[in-house]
Amino acid sequence: MNIRVFRTPSDAGIYAASMLERVITSSERPVIGLATGETVIPVYDALVNFVRCGLNVSHVTTINLDEYVGLAPDHPQSYHQFMDEHLFSRIGIRMQSTHLPNGVAPDLAAECERYNEVIRNHPIDMQVLGIGVNGHIGFNEPSHALITGTHVVNLTPETIAMNARFFSRKEDVPRQAITMGIQSILQAKQIMLLAFGEHKADIIYRALKDGIRTDVPASILQLHKDVTVILDRQSAARLGL
Ligand code: GLP
Repeated sequence: MNIRVFRTPSDAGIYAASMLERVITSSERPVIGLATGETVIPVYDALVNFVRCGLNVSHVTTINLDEYVGLAPDHPQSYHQFMDEHLFSRIGIRMQSTHLPNGVAPDLAAECERYNEVIRNHPIDMQVLGIGVNGHIGFNEPSHALITGTHVVNLTPETIAMNARFFSRKEDVPRQAITMGIQSILQAKQIMLLAFGEHKADIIYRALKDGIRTDVPASILQLHKDVTVILDRQSAARLGL
């Protein structure tokens, strides 16, 4: 694993965006796997700046990791809205080239199958990942077993509590999500894992240095041959670098 530590999230975001630029400019049909969450905002801000300075993204396909069950794409807290606000609308990407699971599909099992097919048809060149404080990647939550393909997941009480900050009423926080599975993530040619802040220092240590365990889903990334971990000093604090 290549571990890079930056002074600020915004420095780290520029580095991450330049890795994305390399993938985007070196392939005719690049496929980028995207994540949501506060961590990736500096990456998308930097990428938007690159596009404003001439980076062409008209040939890029994007595939997001996850979406809440029960939130329509136009719901303000949906990941569809997050992506639109922080990236898609700002880079003028064609919406047909962007993919997210549909959290209000009438048949969720069929939706998971459809999403697996999308991933099969668009092998991911670079997967962007954040990490939950409990070690989840996408919404692959700590469990006795990790699931390979796209699936519906019951969010853990810890994740529901973390997400509550985005909703005005506690009872509106979604209890389930559709997430890309672990195998789909590991099949990406390259992966970047980002984490910022003191509150991520412990889980970053456990994910990178403490063996591979299903109750720390991100630790499985130790098996991938091309992972870049992009941290700030606070999240790297326990690594003893
Ligand atoms: C959510 C997303 C994850 C993300 C995580 C961390 O649960 N499903 O993909 O990595 O939160 O979020 P944040 O970056 O806001 O800490």
